[in-house]
Amino acid sequence: MAEKPWGGRFSGETDPRVEAFTESISFDHRLAAVDVRGSQAHARMLAEVGLLAGDERDAIVAELDRILEEITGGEFPFRTELEDVHMHIESALIERLGDVGRKLHTARSRNDQVSTDLKLYVRDGIDTIDGLLLELQRAFVARGKTDAGVILPAYTHLQRAQPVQATQYWLAYCEKFDRDRGRLADCRNRLNVSPLGGAALAGTSLPIDRKQTATELGFDAPAGNSLDISSDRDFLVEFTSALALVSVHLSGWAEEWILWCSTEFDMIILPDAYTTGSSIMPQKRNPDVLELIRGKSARVIAAANQLLVLLKGLPLAYNRDLQEDKIAVFDAIDTTVACLELAPAIVDTAQLNTDSITARLEEGFLDATALMEYLIRQQIPMRTAHETVGRLVARCESENRKLSDLTLEQFRDVHESIDESVFDVLGTANAVAILQSQGSGGPDAVNASLTHWRQALGMD
Ligand code: ARG
Repeated sequence: MAEKPWGGRFSGETDPRVEAFTESISFDHRLAAVDVRGSQAHARMLAEVGLLAGDERDAIVAELDRILEEITGGEFPFRTELEDVHMHIESALIERLGDVGRKLHTARSRNDQVSTDLKLYVRDGIDTIDGLLLELQRAFVARGKTDAGVILPAYTHLQRAQPVQATQYWLAYCEKFDRDRGRLADCRNRLNVSPLGGAALAGTSLPIDRKQTATELGFDAPAGNSLDISSDRDFLVEFTSALALVSVHLSGWAEEWILWCSTEFDMIILPDAYTTGSSIMPQKRNPDVLELIRGKSARVIAAANQLLVLLKGLPLAYNRDLQEDKIAVFDAIDTTVACLELAPAIVDTAQLNTDSITARLEEGFLDATALMEYLIRQQIPMRTAHETVGRLVARCESENRKLSDLTLEQFRDVHESIDESVFDVLGTANAVAILQSQGSGGPDAVNASLTHWRQALGMD
């Protein structure tokens, strides 16, 4: 019993099943590096305020380095009865340094310690994921340049709606992932106050310097309230929620391309490297990677939800329930990173099937809105113009024709203000060329966006 750092008030042994049930070392060993970083900052501060001697501090800092090396080298034995990463590291320190090791936990609790560890870990995670998102944005923007001039049918309700420059399509995803990066930056900003020194829940009577540890660990300031520190996991909800939205964006994109590479759409060709075959149907080339990107989003969305449910109804301050937070956070990070590591290569190497796209570009009345806006320019009220084009579309549909197949007389039958110039807006290419509002899918607006993004992402 004496071996457990909290063993003093116990005389009976812990049931081994309880040890197995309460342990977290099987997953929180991932915090070892940040735990050591936090402990070293804490030791330096303790020495600064006179709670540790200089040589005690040096011994602790050096031994912590050695322990971390052993952990990362896989030579450090984990034992269920030592519960978690914090107790493993502290126990090893005590084993090696005796009384000096027994001083490290002065003015600290595992409650402020684990929160500090998590914040450091999540901060690193945000930086990694931000870098991957930037790469993905660059991949989309690069396609915006390569596929300049290609026209795509764009959809609402998965029905052909209006045509856009392909560049507009690529840049749409760049915008989504940019908002994701913004959300992660907000989260990083808000979490960046130091829990260390909050101690168990009430702070401490010892003369610690919380500013020093905050500064050493790269936090902007110490967090304000010890009770809040002990219980706060908002940052994990914000982080996983931001990741959930990243996954939702990835999943929507994956779904779109799964449709687009079907025979029915035939709009995109995925390279062999990112497709797999069927064990029974020899002709198959399946978009499994995209399907798994879509499927794995469930795990990240679930992680955000899991944390909200975990926190709901917890009284102040720390409760052991919180130990479960790491499982969700680690899985959300791993899953997001795995998807983001593959996505840019798929974006780079997929090919728009321009033959098939172009061959069907005049189907589905993609120019109907352009015609309606032509009528508006001829002083016809919008609702009347809409109705008029609707009737023309219905007529063309029943006669299996395109709007551009109608003669000037047939147009003039529906409205006398229509003249030859109507043919300048008909057909998909014309319908795109006349789009001119800021942010539209027309050529000038799209070029302006492309220039903006290439500069913003350091691509020029
Ligand atoms: N392993 C614990 C966790 O992750 C560390 C904090 C334990 N605190 C306590 N008061 N038992 O939440």
